[in-house]
Amino acid sequence: MKRFLSNKIFKTISDVSGEMNLRAYVIGGFVRDALLGRFSQDIDIMVLGNGIDFAHKVAERLGDNIPVRFFKNFGTAMIIRDGLKIEFVGARKESYRSNSRKPIVEDGTLEDDQNRRDFTINAMAFDLQMESYGQLIDPFNGLKDLQDKIIRTPLDPDITFSDDPLRMIRAIRFATQLEFTIDPVCFEAIKKNAGRVSILSAERITDELNRIIQLSVPSVGFKMLLDSGILKMIFPEFVDLTGTEVIDGIGHKDNFYHTIAVLDNVASKSDNLWLRWAAILHDIAKPATKKFVPEVGWTFYAHDFRGSKMVPEIFRRFKLPLNEKMKYVEKLVLLHLRPIILSEDIVTDSAVRRLLFDAGDNIDDLMLLCEADITSKNLQKVRKFLDNFENVRRKLKEIEEKDRLRNWQPPISGEIIMETFGISPSKEVGLIKKAITEAILEGEIPNQYDSAYQRMLFEGEKLGLKQK
Ligand code: CTP
Repeated sequence: MKRFLSNKIFKTISDVSGEMNLRAYVIGGFVRDALLGRFSQDIDIMVLGNGIDFAHKVAERLGDNIPVRFFKNFGTAMIIRDGLKIEFVGARKESYRSNSRKPIVEDGTLEDDQNRRDFTINAMAFDLQMESYGQLIDPFNGLKDLQDKIIRTPLDPDITFSDDPLRMIRAIRFATQLEFTIDPVCFEAIKKNAGRVSILSAERITDELNRIIQLSVPSVGFKMLLDSGILKMIFPEFVDLTGTEVIDGIGHKDNFYHTIAVLDNVASKSDNLWLRWAAILHDIAKPATKKFVPEVGWTFYAHDFRGSKMVPEIFRRFKLPLNEKMKYVEKLVLLHLRPIILSEDIVTDSAVRRLLFDAGDNIDDLMLLCEADITSKNLQKVRKFLDNFENVRRKLKEIEEKDRLRNWQPPISGEIIMETFGISPSKEVGLIKKAITEAILEGEIPNQYDSAYQRMLFEGEKLGLKQK
């Protein structure tokens, strides 16, 4: 363990602790990670006394006028040094992050503080006193749970989870991240208390949810969120994707399990959080559009369009950004069937041109999502799809090189149209511009100024406009 405590900062903290006659410990995630052989940059120091005063003393010792950021209400202080984020807090008797309206928490002993932490693996501490430097203080056998790969609460889980219901989602996040199992008693308590997540702010939920989404195999977390009943509370539309139905001996796939498989596929290829959100939402409107049509089977007509329309409401509820990130997700959900449709047909130049025009810079992400969308167990089918996609990709490249259509603007602007016919901004301008764009995308005229100009004159004439 010594190598994890070799940074000078720990020695300084130890010295200050001796000087002020206040015991100090490293506690929580840093200890857990160190015991797993990983060095964390986030260090939590727990002091049996005032954490803010202690932090100031440490900063003074470190010199260089190192700033101390502190939050009096919460009794916490923070120093950043050598890329390490060091947070100081006094030991507490009450919940670590109380949900009560009063943030003031009672001072406590080391034991009180450890009792009130979320999991046994997060409740371990390293002593920083000179005489017992680096000694592990592990009252709940966290080390054993770490070895056995178990997530368990230090106290009765009902108490730990009612202190802060977010811990139920954290349990699932840690289990997914560390590839641990949640202790069955603890998991039962999560099921029982799932409804309590309703008191949490959307920001805290989303923060944890995004952490699960960013893991390498997020489906593991989503299955637990589903089984525990938490997903129903925070994301009912997603739960609506579960289940299959059979009519006339024809069934459809379970769209929840399909979606999380797509999410894993995307996760194995890209770190982009928003592309992962697009994977989560790509089929979100399937329940709303599901219909059994005799002779045809199950249909989900326009679920791409309806799904893209559901994105803003979901983003708003999760307090996700309502900016270009959301627009990106909407666009990918809207376009997610296009490359598949394309690959099933004879790939014409105009269809590829349209796709390039509509997807713009997001074409590569769209292709990635579409390939991830193939989760069939039928290997022959998968092979066929992938071959077709290869074809689409080749064609995309060809057309792109030829026409340079990515983020393309038609060669005739609205200004030119208004100027030519002596008209002001109006419906006609839009109609002419659209007709020119269509003609180019369809390959009726080349992507050049002169031919586009001639087309403009022709379209204007059709609308009864005269050249100025
Ligand atoms: N903690 C807690 N209950 C919470 C959040 C945090 O008991 N709802 C305690 C745990 O002891 C945790 C420590 O506070 O180890 C620090 O919390 P945090 O920084 O959120 O997590 P880490 O455990 O450091 O892990 P990571 O940063 O990898 O999420």
